[in-house]
Amino acid sequence: MKKKLIPEIQQSLLRWYQKEKRDLPWRKTKDPYSIWISEIMLQQTQVDTVIPYYNRWMKKFPTIQKLAKANEDVVLKHWEGLGYYSRARNIQRAAKTVEKDFGGRFPKTREDLLSLPGIGLYTVGAILSIAYNKSVPLVDGNVIRVLTRIFNIHDDVLKEDTKKKIWSIAGELVPEKKAGDFNQSLMELGATLCTPGTPLCLICPVNSLCKGFKESTPSLLPVKKKKMEIEKFLGWMFLIEKDGHFLLQKRKKGTVMGGLWEFPSFREGIYDHPKLALKAKTKILCPKAELKGTVPAAFTKYRGLFQLTHCPMSKSKSIKPVLEEAEETAWAKPKDFKKYTFSAPTRKAVEKLSLSDSRNKI
Ligand code: ADE
Repeated sequence: MKKKLIPEIQQSLLRWYQKEKRDLPWRKTKDPYSIWISEIMLQQTQVDTVIPYYNRWMKKFPTIQKLAKANEDVVLKHWEGLGYYSRARNIQRAAKTVEKDFGGRFPKTREDLLSLPGIGLYTVGAILSIAYNKSVPLVDGNVIRVLTRIFNIHDDVLKEDTKKKIWSIAGELVPEKKAGDFNQSLMELGATLCTPGTPLCLICPVNSLCKGFKESTPSLLPVKKKKMEIEKFLGWMFLIEKDGHFLLQKRKKGTVMGGLWEFPSFREGIYDHPKLALKAKTKILCPKAELKGTVPAAFTKYRGLFQLTHCPMSKSKSIKPVLEEAEETAWAKPKDFKKYTFSAPTRKAVEKLSLSDSRNKI
């Protein structure tokens, strides 16, 4: 980061915040207890919703001592409608701990604060910077959005490494003085101008310093890559045997495990009986088709089991399998299996049924 950039961002944001900040009840105080309550309420909840709850709470429980002594039902009643009730229970547990272990005085260090229930790095940053004016960073969803845009960060923000990087940038940016105002200015910008949908870049106080605005498309940041959705399956693997040879298929390119050889396998298909499955999937009739166990399979987004079905075909019968996923087929003796590159589930089936050591044990 260019050294000049840091003071420029600090000054622009602080000046803007001084002029434009919303008039919110918890901004009239530096009392750590009040700051703490407001910050916990603001997690997962919009400012407009929080205001009446915060005012009611402070009237009913004006000090941490009053809160520690309160009846839990009364505490929960004052949280009713805010959701995530563990937040309210944790607040009261923390208040009791402050009474018991800290002589009723709100802790002032990172370690002591982190020891309280429901207080994580974000809340520590908020309390230390806003109430005690310590130069400590904080990162929440708004700050992630603002910083990935200002620094044009396209890494996946759901990854731990990216989160670390953003915390580190927030740490470099937070000023020695007015840390609380600065942290709040980042959050305020995220809540009012640097919004998720269409950010209001043209009136943003840091647009001339914003790499995302100059070089990219801020509305596409931050990048959040979805986790792959896992698909479970119960499938079939057919060991079609004729005259000591097994039918193999090479999977078409572009299908999962494309280009690999396998016993004809199908991820889908709930059938009452292996014979029905075989007929449905390959059009082969085999009265002796029989289940021989299962092999587990995990590839790309699929997790499941193949039901191994041995299908001994009579010598005289000609077989014309219909194999949609096959690019090529072959009849191979187990002793020749080593010539083929098998998919993992087929290799497991070969091992499980001891087919590769030339003696067919099926
Ligand atoms: N969101 C959570 N806490 C905030 C604060 N103190 N200022 C602005 N937005 C916030």
